[in-house]
Formats: sequence, structure tokens, C-alpha cells
Amino acid sequence: MKIFVFNGPNLGRLGKREPGVYGASTHDDLVRLCEETGGSLGVEVEVRQTDHEGEMVGWLHEAADAGAAVVLNAGAWTHYSIAVRDAAAQLTAPLIELHISNVHRREEFRHHSVLSDLATGVMAGFGVAGYALAIRWLAERSN
Ligand code: DQA
Repeated sequence: MKIFVFNGPNLGRLGKREPGVYGASTHDDLVRLCEETGGSLGVEVEVRQTDHEGEMVGWLHEAADAGAAVVLNAGAWTHYSIAVRDAAAQLTAPLIELHISNVHRREEFRHHSVLSDLATGVMAGFGVAGYALAIRWLAERSN
């Protein structure tokens, strides 16, 4: 079983970016956590990050064609990108929408997601640890 973890804009700056909101872990730390979690559960995990919307759309097409599960932190695109939504709608395996911060206790514009009604589950506020929880859930679900 393959799990893709796709991170959208500004997430490559984790560790430097608003650490009071997103924590001290870097994107490299996040990649390591995801790969180690997948390794311990016997599932292949591939983590990618992009600041370019078209690239994210292409990755979602790839995941759809592969029938792969996706953990998606679409960053700000979550709140307005119909292009990312339309690409995510093509997935056939589970989609987990993930946010490092608890978007519901932040600004009003972060409370709405164009992805949530497509997602199997939504996680917010568990920090970078949420990625490991999401991968574990997906791996156990497929057993
Ligand atoms: C985020 C929350 C979004 O509102 C924000 O635009 C991000 C990160 C999170 O992980 O908490 O870039 O998705």
C-alpha cells in the first residue's frame, strides 16, 4: 500500500514559519517522521511539498491514477482552491485533510475548507504529530 503526503504552500518553511503556530519541526523532520512511521507499519510513504498549485494538481492526478491514499495539507489552498478540490475529488482511496494548527480557533477565513466534504477524515491541531496519526490510521485501515 502506498500513501502520499502532499504539503502545499509555505509548509517548506516549517521550523522558521510562525513557530508559535506551527511548532519547531522542519519539513525535513516531518519527512523523517512520516517515512519512519510508514516503515514501522510496513507501508510505503512518499512526502512532497510544493508552493505551486499546478504541481499539486498534477500530484493529485498521479495519486488518483495510482489508487493511492493521500494525506493532504493544502495550506492556504484549503480555503479557496477549486482547482485543488477538483483534483482531490478524483481520488478513489481515502483522503485525509490535515492541518498542523487548529484552524477552528484561528481567523474566520480559516474555518472554511473546500476539501472537507471530500475527505474521509479531517485532522487539525495535533501539530506535526498529526501526520504520524493519519498514516497509522490509513495503514491499519488497509490491514
Ligand atoms: C495550515 C492552516 C492553513 O490555514 C494555512 O494557510 C497553512 C497551514 C495548517 O497546517 O495548520 O498554510 O494548513
